[in-house]
Amino acid sequence: MRLILLGPPGAGKGTQASAIVEEYAIPHISTGDIFRENIKKGTELGKKAKEYMDKGLLVPDELVISIVEDRLQKEDCKEGFLLDGFPRTLNQGEALDKVLSQMGLKLDRVINLDVEKEILIGRAIGRRICKDCGEVYHIKFTPPKEEGICDKCGGKLHQRDDDTVETVERRIEVYHKQTEPLIDYYREKGLLLDIDGSKDKDSIFEEIAKALGK
Ligand code: AP5
Ligand code: MG
Repeated sequence: MRLILLGPPGAGKGTQASAIVEEYAIPHISTGDIFRENIKKGTELGKKAKEYMDKGLLVPDELVISIVEDRLQKEDCKEGFLLDGFPRTLNQGEALDKVLSQMGLKLDRVINLDVEKEILIGRAIGRRICKDCGEVYHIKFTPPKEEGICDKCGGKLHQRDDDTVETVERRIEVYHKQTEPLIDYYREKGLLLDIDGSKDKDSIFEEIAKALGK
């Protein structure tokens, strides 16, 4: 299964991605996670990406596209993959089409998580992530048993640098301007699967799994 998860910041892409990749046994490719790992390791790519991410802006296409192109050539993508947060511009979408067609592959579905702005801000602001294992919590919807401590590994929970109200609002604006045109792009190709992302996470996953089949 070759899938894309499309949706604004805080829509629940990462949350649904975890459930989807488990169900379909495919790798989860999140460009946001790749950049955050590079920032943590202090790489040149991480340093460049951070400048944009902290402002809520998109990292330039030329830095993103080659990373995804390389990742898709890896052995574990043979049976499929789930792209989370890529493509994010029409240019990235066209580049992806090109690389897939060179590989003789086609996308199966593009899952579009639709969530209204007020919910998005609440989800992003309340998100907490384990510094050690990456488990994602929400202070209201999925709180840890002990405040600030990961249930799974006992690690400390932290907030993403770009999860401030101001930056989340900027990220949502950027999404409307630069990413939303991809909805029509994939709708015209007959690939779009519209999902109401404002429900609880299990109902959303049920709807996605029903539509994708096995
Ligand atoms: P990225 O990391 O992709 O962030 P994003 O798109 O802004 O999305 P988020 O990760 O914030 O939200 P999500 O939809 O994954 O929600 P989640 O499941 O965590 O990108 C970050 C930055 O990197 C970008 O701004 C850009 O600078 C750069 N970048 C990345 N890719 C790029 C690209 N292709 N091109 C250029 N630049 C790029 O859920 C959020 C919270 O809500 C969690 O706490 C969760 O527990 C909770 N939650 C989830 N679902 C539900 C539910 N149904 N009900 C209640 N709570 C829920
Ligand atoms: Mg995410």
